[in-house]
Amino acid sequence: MSTDGSTDASARVTVLGLGAMGAALAGAFVDAGHRTTVWNRTSGKADALVARGAVATATAAEAVTASPLVVVCLSSYDGVHEVAGPLAGEFAGRTLVNLTSGSPVHAQETAAWAERSGAGYLDGVIMTTPSGIGNRDFLQLYAGSQAVFEEHRGTLAALGEPLHVGADTALSSVYDTALLGLMWSTLTGWLHTVALIGADGPGGNVSATAYTEVADRWMRTVRFFMSAYAPQIDSGRYPSGEFPLELHRMTMDVLLHASRLRGVDARMAELFRELTERAVAAGHAGDSYARLIEYVRTDGRPDGPAAGRPDGRPGAAPA
Ligand SMILES: NC(=O)c1ccc[n+]([C@@H]2O[C@H](COP(=O)([O-])OP(=O)(O)OC[C@H]3O[C@@H](n4cnc5c(N)ncnc54)[C@H](OP(=O)(O)O)[C@@H]3O)[C@@H](O)[C@H]2O)c1
Repeated sequence: MSTDGSTDASARVTVLGLGAMGAALAGAFVDAGHRTTVWNRTSGKADALVARGAVATATAAEAVTASPLVVVCLSSYDGVHEVAGPLAGEFAGRTLVNLTSGSPVHAQETAAWAERSGAGYLDGVIMTTPSGIGNRDFLQLYAGSQAVFEEHRGTLAALGEPLHVGADTALSSVYDTALLGLMWSTLTGWLHTVALIGADGPGGNVSATAYTEVADRWMRTVRFFMSAYAPQIDSGRYPSGEFPLELHRMTMDVLLHASRLRGVDARMAELFRELTERAVAAGHAGDSYARLIEYVRTDGRPDGPAAGRPDGRPGAAPA
């Protein structure tokens, strides 16, 4: 097996579940030249894949024993346990990669089942839609044993960019939720500014397309800020550099004013203006933007950041 992220064309892989996503996964394995075995509860869904070179089996047991690597992608973890539960013996010595969406608890329960069954286990999440499968620009996140991940990384690379996020199998689901949150807040922030720059007014009516070409370049700077602020958050120290919170607050006022003047929804801007105002009022005017993490951590409680995190750093203790 390749461990360098390149596709291993000689691999045998099984896909259980040929819904919209499972069929896309199986198709990508076939396209990458893997010997792909497929099974679906309802017959007929394998036909198009068989025409492309996949092998369909009548039972899930036959499909599992056909390959050392078994990828499962069903509607829910209940379905995964329904299908895999009776096949513990067949899974022994193989690796189950579960790309079904679920919670951290689902992931850990399924990992425990795999361990009892003598199977390797990776819990994965797919950060794209079926049409994005096979495109290296899109991520799949995997959590579980690093060694198991490395063993199958070359095969999984047929699906997109495989990224290992940690040994705890709960992590793929935790990352999934966080990254989707980042997507929604980024997209909503972008929509707010598309509305602002496209509204009537001096210099207004800029098209979304023209604006987004510039915004895309600006996102490189935003990524730079994130990289600079992350270690500050981890250390609990927020040196301002050249862009302190006081300056952020002043420029946020311009954004709020422009939003209200042009009649666009300003609630997102009001939120970060309010967090910044609280930090400045508490004496953090000279700190970096990363200081706001302490206000975000308080879950909106009016008393601001509480002392006494378990690790001794400032900020709110988890509920
Ligand atoms: N579609 C997306 O854009 C997308 C993106 C990211 C993640 N995902 C995740 O991928 C997973 C699959 O999504 P999908 O879009 O492929 O769903 P889907 O098109 O509805 O397919 C569901 C699949 O699960 C099977 N299934 C459900 N319950 C089962 C059971 N008890 N026993 C055996 N098979 C069972 C279905 O089999 P039958 O054909 O027999 O009904 C079908 O193959 C979900 O967890 C979803 O959240 C999907």
